[in-house]
Amino acid sequence: MTLTHDLFVARLTLTDFRNHANLDLSLDSRPVCLFGANGAGKTNILEALTMLAPGRGLRSATPLELARDGGEGRAQLWVVSSRVLNDGEETVIGVGAERTPEGGVKRNTRRDGAPATASDLAEAARMTWLTPAMDRLWSGPAGDRRRFFDRLTLSRASQHGQAAASYERAMRERQRLLSERIFDDAWLRGLEREMSAHGAAIAAARVETLERLQSVIDARPDGAFPKAILALEGPLESRFERGAKSADVEEDFAELLHDMRHRDAGAGRALDGPHRSDLKARHAAKNMDADQCSTGEQKALLLGLTLAQARALANDPGAGASLILIDEAAAHLDSVRRAALFDELLANPGQAWLTGTDESLFEAFGRRAQIFEVRDGRVHVA
Ligand SMILES: Nc1ncnc2c1ncn2[C@@H]1O[C@H](COP(=O)(O)OP(=O)(O)OP(=O)(O)O)[C@@H](O)[C@H]1O
Ligand SMILES: [Mg+2]
Repeated sequence: MTLTHDLFVARLTLTDFRNHANLDLSLDSRPVCLFGANGAGKTNILEALTMLAPGRGLRSATPLELARDGGEGRAQLWVVSSRVLNDGEETVIGVGAERTPEGGVKRNTRRDGAPATASDLAEAARMTWLTPAMDRLWSGPAGDRRRFFDRLTLSRASQHGQAAASYERAMRERQRLLSERIFDDAWLRGLEREMSAHGAAIAAARVETLERLQSVIDARPDGAFPKAILALEGPLESRFERGAKSADVEEDFAELLHDMRHRDAGAGRALDGPHRSDLKARHAAKNMDADQCSTGEQKALLLGLTLAQARALANDPGAGASLILIDEAAAHLDSVRRAALFDELLANPGQAWLTGTDESLFEAFGRRAQIFEVRDGRVHVA
């Protein structure tokens, strides 16, 4: 049976992106499997796709790092262009970077020929990705989990990125005043008002994301991927979880920031707020914190969460189908779990993109996937 997918990349072209001088892939909606030797350029292709989402992509690279070595001297550093089909409707998304006459680097983002904002991108091609670098997400620093969760939130609520940027801006400005010992009450109060308004919006959006995710997770019986019990740790988030009103959360946070001025001045940063929140997960069946689980279990939890996120987006009338990108899809998975993963990906209304070193990893797909070999920055139909 061939399933059709509501959202898929029908064409992807890369120009001078990492080790790909010119890549042009025409695709149908089936999962895209990329195999090839180490260093062939598989992850680079997934990274290129993630440039179509807001942010700096799956390696957090700078625009200059993405430019192909050997392509120096050109004004246009690199381009990633795609034709995306969503419920039969076509969108062309192009992202690139070019040198400015002043010697800087400028990123360009276009959707159907017109300049696009981060929200435009977030809506045009929703996606979630997993990489081997995220295997340590549960035991690594809180900031990584927070960023991961904010990406999940952004793909559901495209204004989340704007709120985060505004919050950061106000926080930096407040910190500058505090570090210069400019205790100008009206000025600080204005910035703290901004921080509390955006901070409350950020926390509320995270809590809603978590609730939607958790209900999707809870709605399913235990399967190949362990169920997680999620929790957000943060002063604003916990208020929302207990049902507080946004105006009250905002008010109290503004007051807290006011009271913390001297401590924040001494610390050199705002000690409290949604910029310090953390995401916790427990392995439900084992009743164990994710960071105490085995490497394979941690990975399985993360895969379960990624699949749940795609289901939550698909169920959400304000969102929709999303692409799922999994780098080194088979790492840590036994053949039963791998087959279960493939079934889940085939059922997802968004196209899946997978990489692996060996073609045989994708055997269980049979003809239900399109398989390509990546060799020396070129792609061959397998
Ligand atoms: N800016 C760049 N210009 C040219 N080549 C680059 C650039 N950045 C990275 N590369 C090269 O791209 C190659 C492919 O990298 P990539 O991570 O995509 O490999 P891969 O196929 O995923 O391999 P693995 O199986 O080891 O994960 C690497 O050899 C790397 O050195
Ligand atoms: Mg790789």
